[in-house]
Amino acid sequence: MKKLLLPVLISLVLIIFFSGCYYDIEDKLYPKSACDTSNITYSKTIAPILQNYGCISCHGGNAASGGNIILDTYAGVKTYAQNGRLTGSINQSAGYSAMPLGGSKMNSCDITKVTSWINSGIPNN
Ligand code: HEC
Repeated sequence: MKKLLLPVLISLVLIIFFSGCYYDIEDKLYPKSACDTSNITYSKTIAPILQNYGCISCHGGNAASGGNIILDTYAGVKTYAQNGRLTGSINQSAGYSAMPLGGSKMNSCDITKVTSWINSGIPNN
């Protein structure tokens, strides 16, 4: 029994020591509140986000699988940004179809970026 005590103690100290360091470093590297909403543009931010989440595979010009909702052009995105259905669907709010259909919800930073772009007047930039 005595033989076991020392290795167990050492392991405990090591676990506590390293888990402590691990979280300290992670917090510095990836601050939880970091969502950069500066320099958001339609072409460099919004269109790539819609592409990344697979929205375009259903809502692209040649895809009839998106209920005739076109999101691969500025004009198309603008329509749904203005009528509130874009934010309603990506926030998966009650009364809207939750998007992306069949996929997991967009991360909160990307939702914030889309919302911020809409709030800044839906610029075509
Ligand atoms: C697998 C195909 C598919 C994918 C992927 C998809 N959609 Fe849809 N989406 C649809 C279909 C079909 C409809 C129309 C029927 C409905 O409302 O459920 C729709 C409806 C919508 C609507 C209207 C919602 C409403 O309640 O009026 C919006 C806005 C929309 N999609 C945006 C998106 C966005 C943004 C993404 C990516 C994050 C996305 N969709 C991904 C198929 C898809």
